[in-house]
Amino acid sequence: MKIAIGSDHAGYLLKEKIKEFLSESNLEFTDYGTFKEDSCDYPEFAYKVTTAVMQESYDRGILICGTGIGMSITANKVKGIRAALVHSEETAQLSRLHNDANVLCLGARITPADLAIEIVNTWLNTSFEGGRHERRTQLITKLTGL
Ligand code: RB5
Repeated sequence: MKIAIGSDHAGYLLKEKIKEFLSESNLEFTDYGTFKEDSCDYPEFAYKVTTAVMQESYDRGILICGTGIGMSITANKVKGIRAALVHSEETAQLSRLHNDANVLCLGARITPADLAIEIVNTWLNTSFEGGRHERRTQLITKLTGL
């Protein structure tokens, strides 16, 4: 599985911890920035990661900002992206089982790092259930064009 990851300044330190976890798990990833804690604008990184997921051969994206809200708002405006802002292992699992979420959004100022790592682990290791849920994800595209 290939993963694209990005954050703004508020998510930078959590991004570094998640990268350590991905490396330890032998998962391939590309870091789309930011690469320092200086203030920057989350839409730029949401756009880089989501376009990498849609146009290059990345299976999943992970985006981190202070709350995860700005990242999820931006990511969900990109065609083909189903971004889930997740706060628990249960919602991580359900975002995969029911929504086939291809981007995970996390809030570094909201979710403790240990829990965030558990969320990432669960999210990466849960498959889409399909069936009636596939009809619903297809309906998102049909109704919105996104
Ligand atoms: C940055 O201060 C903060 O607004 C940003 O990281 C994010 O939480 C926006 O949704």
